[in-house]
Amino acid sequence: MGMLLRSSSMKSGEYLEGMMKDYMGGKSKSKPQKSTATSNRLMMILTCLQMLFAIYGTFLLFFMSPSLDKPDFLWAARIADKWRHFSVVGRSQTTAAPPLLSEICESEKIDFEQKKSNDEVMIKFKRELYQEVLDSQRNRSGIETLPELMAMKSKWDSNNVPKITVILNHFKRKTLCTQLESLLHQTVPFHHVWVLSFGSPNEQTLRSIVEGYNDTRISFISSGYDFKYYGRFQMALQTTGDLVYILDDDMIPGRKMLQILSHVAGTKKYENSVLGSIGRVLPFRQKDFLFPSYRKFRSKEAGLYLPDPAYDIAVDTIVQVDFLSSSWFLSSELVKTLFIETPMTFLTGEDLHLR
Ligand SMILES: *[C@@H]1O[C@H](CO)[C@@H](O)[C@H](O)[C@H]1NC(C)=O
Ligand SMILES: *[C@@H]1O[C@H](CO)[C@@H](O)[C@H](O)[C@H]1NC(C)=O
Repeated sequence: MGMLLRSSSMKSGEYLEGMMKDYMGGKSKSKPQKSTATSNRLMMILTCLQMLFAIYGTFLLFFMSPSLDKPDFLWAARIADKWRHFSVVGRSQTTAAPPLLSEICESEKIDFEQKKSNDEVMIKFKRELYQEVLDSQRNRSGIETLPELMAMKSKWDSNNVPKITVILNHFKRKTLCTQLESLLHQTVPFHHVWVLSFGSPNEQTLRSIVEGYNDTRISFISSGYDFKYYGRFQMALQTTGDLVYILDDDMIPGRKMLQILSHVAGTKKYENSVLGSIGRVLPFRQKDFLFPSYRKFRSKEAGLYLPDPAYDIAVDTIVQVDFLSSSWFLSSELVKTLFIETPMTFLTGEDLHLR
C-alpha cells in the first residue's frame, strides 16, 4: 500500500527507555550474571541510546516474568498463607539501621542480544507491514513524532506536576537497584514507588534494598501468595496519585521517561490511552482461520512486534497497537476500567479489555 519514504530513526539519548527484553530468545530469559558497576553503567548508557517512542493500546497484554508454580499446598494452608505473609513495609517501620546499599545492591546484566534477520523476504514483509500500519494511522488519527507530542498542550507541566506512582514487580531478577537509581534521577520526580514481591524467593534481599534506600516514598509490599498477573494492577487501584506507571523488572526507564509519558498522558488526545514502549500489532487471520505465531517464517500475516531490531524497525512516532507489553503508563482513573469485565481466569492477564 503505502509508498512513503521510511522516516529515518532519530537518535536521542535523553528520550529513551531501555528495552532489555530478550524477546527474540523466547521465555527462558533469565541469565543471571554478576557484573561490575562499570558494565552496569554501560548497560544504562546502551539502553539510553535507544529511541523513545510511545505506543498506546486499547488492550493490555500482561507479560510477567514467568513465576514458577508453587508446590501444591492444601487449600486451607494456602489461604492461611495468603493472609499471614501479606505485609507492607515503609521506612518508618524499620527499627534497625537500614542496610548499606553498597553491600546489598545486586545487579544483573541482561544480554541485549538483538538478533538480526538477514532474510530479505522477511525484512521486506515486516517493513512493508509496518509502513502500512503507519500510513493508515497517519490518515486516520495522525501519528506525532516526539517533538510534536511534546509541543502539544498538556495539563501536566512544570506548573502542574502530576503525582506519579511507579509500581515495580520483582521475582528473581537483580535489577531493582538499577531501576530505583533511574527513578530517583528523573527530570520529573515520582510520587511513590511500590516494590511488589509476590511469592518471590528473593523477598529478603528485595526488602533489604528498599530499606537501604531509606526513602519514605519507596515502599516494599510483599506476600507469600503470588497474586500473579492482575496483582500489580489490583494494587494500582489503591494509588492516591494522578498517574500510574507499571514496569516489568527488566525495564530501565531513561531519565526523561516520566516527563515525556506524563506530558503525553495530559494531552486531550491521549488522556484516555495507555502508554508504553513495547507493543504488538496482532497477527492477521490466515485462510484457515488460525492466527500464525509472530515468529512464523515468511508469513505475511504474523503481525508486528514494535520496535523490532531484528528487522531494523525503529519507532519514531506514536503508534497505536493492540497490546502493550513490559510497561503501562495510565491515569489512576483509567485503572478502574481494567476491572469492568470479569476476567475469564486470573491465571493469565492477556486479553484484558481496557475499554
Ligand atoms: C492516506 O491519505 C492519502 C491522501 O488523502 C491517500 O493518497 C492515501 O492513499 C491514504 N493512505 C491510506 C493507507 O489510507
Ligand atoms: C534515614 O532517613 C532519615 C530521614 O531522612 C534520616 O534522619 C536518617 O539518618 C536516615 N538513616 C540512615 C541510616 O541514613
